[in-house]
Amino acid sequence: MAATRSFIYKVVVVGDGGVGKTSIVLQYCENSFKENYIMTIGSNFSTKQVELEEYPNFLVKLQLWDLAGQKHFSFVRPPFYRGATGIVYVFDLTRRSSFQNILEWKLEVEKVIGNGKPSVLVGNKIDLAEQGNREVGEGDGEALKDEIKAFGYYETSAKEDLLVNPVFKDITLAILKNTQKI
Ligand code: GTP
Ligand code: MG
Repeated sequence: MAATRSFIYKVVVVGDGGVGKTSIVLQYCENSFKENYIMTIGSNFSTKQVELEEYPNFLVKLQLWDLAGQKHFSFVRPPFYRGATGIVYVFDLTRRSSFQNILEWKLEVEKVIGNGKPSVLVGNKIDLAEQGNREVGEGDGEALKDEIKAFGYYETSAKEDLLVNPVFKDITLAILKNTQKI
């Protein structure tokens, strides 16, 4: 049996205020969801071990930095990007402006860590979108994924735990591919 190899990766989770960044991380790390909105002030930090069936001898721990998305926190965010090996971009499928702002988020992050770092794109609140509130088509999401060269595009629900795990599994695989040449 191959020896265990351990990795720790820093991943930042960014996107407009209220899109569901904290909720996605909470669902992933603690399998819970809160209806009431508690705006993140500065940042939240969580860690989680990722299970990769493809690489049973890899022990990967993600350090997740979930950053405050509201405009007035833009001055506190840049230092948190330092050393990030991967990025999760999140928008809200029921709010088109949050989708349009992803390119600005990309600029903000890349100003600090440069371009070419692995990323994934998430359209969250699919449960609400499916109730007739969709403002971003699936094709638009896929097109933006290609434009920003993200590893994958996922339409998630933090509320109903839809496609949340694949987001973090895939950003981990993308980082491993980028850093370990697997
Ligand atoms: P900031 O911390 O201000 O940047 O916001 P955030 O992106 O962390 O958003 P947060 O996770 O706090 O969620 C905002 C609101 O949306 C909360 O009321 C959540 O309950 C709700 N929410 C998050 N994800 C979903 C989802 O998938 N479906 C539904 N229906 N509501 C969601
Ligand atoms: Mg938050």
